[in-house]
Amino acid sequence: MIVLGIETSCDETSVAVIKDDTLTANFISSQHFHKNFGGVVPELSSRAHLQIINPLVKSALEKSSISLNDIDVISATAGPGLIGALLVGLTYAKGLALSLNKKFIAVNHIEGHIFSGFLMEEKPEFPILVLVVSGGHTLLLLVKSFTEIYKLGSTVDDAAGEAFDKVSKLLGLGYPGGPKIQKAAEQGDAGRIIFPIAELKEPYNFSFSGLKTSVLRYVQQQGGIEKIDSQHKSDIAAAFQLAVVKALTQKMKKALENFDVNSISIVGGVAANSLLKEKSIELAEKFRKKIVIPRLEFCGDNAAMIAFRAKTLFEYGITHKLDYKPYPALDEHSFLSL
Ligand code: KG4
Ligand code: ZN
Repeated sequence: MIVLGIETSCDETSVAVIKDDTLTANFISSQHFHKNFGGVVPELSSRAHLQIINPLVKSALEKSSISLNDIDVISATAGPGLIGALLVGLTYAKGLALSLNKKFIAVNHIEGHIFSGFLMEEKPEFPILVLVVSGGHTLLLLVKSFTEIYKLGSTVDDAAGEAFDKVSKLLGLGYPGGPKIQKAAEQGDAGRIIFPIAELKEPYNFSFSGLKTSVLRYVQQQGGIEKIDSQHKSDIAAAFQLAVVKALTQKMKKALENFDVNSISIVGGVAANSLLKEKSIELAEKFRKKIVIPRLEFCGDNAAMIAFRAKTLFEYGITHKLDYKPYPALDEHSFLSL
């Protein structure tokens, strides 16, 4: 069986092909120009997806040595994401499915991330404690199978990636913030400043807006960002990164104490963070659990995870009609299509 996957939810255009159990292509084109604006500009994103999608599909087919007619299932991200950006990939996929008379599957982007650990050679084993940490979402989930996903908690305000992006902007380090903060933190002393970690009533929820405000206040107390030298900035970045990682791993620890899982998987753009990786591996060792963190190519937005999720849905007999609408937010209706 051959599945074509298309991802255009934000600032990455990606096209992937899965042939039976093998990923034969996963092309990712990143829209780097958004850094000039300090964040993603939706209209520019849609236009860039439109310009690159066709050549990317052609390259993915060529790399996989197949033609359009060989494809069995055509899938694309339907949401959550930027509506104009989603429309490009979703409409393209629907058009292909209609003209070629193929099966069509609309994939939830977060479900794509959730199962991205399965793209690795060493796969997670159900039940899995999954931490989704991306630019738009922070979720702690108990995933019992491909069709049973239970939410333990989520962020009550900013997503972890969003906090990295905002603090990076505040420190004048640039966009996207995660990699910039991580790089600066490598030269920093994480113990120089202690930023607070939010205490919440709900045991598995997260909150990052207070932390972001603490960094802002700290910067203001120093007399503004112009008064802070580069070593001091690195120290702030390191202390902030440590606070985020502590907040994430504390909740994972609590979940491991209360739920019997076989493995842990950390997915989404922030899963690329080296300190988060290090601390989660320590946690997994402590609880003697298998841990799967996708490699960089599968942490950020990619179509391999979309094609993989479509494949699992297809195996459960799920396909979608061509009037499937894109959706911007992860609401109850759109979360977990099962
Ligand atoms: O999953 P993703 O590629 O896109 C969304 O679906 O949101 O996640 C992007 C987020 C951005 O906020 C970016 O700053 C963050 O992932 N990120 C990182 C790192 N690399 C990317 N955050 C922390 N450390 C990193 N190394
Ligand atoms: Zn994502």
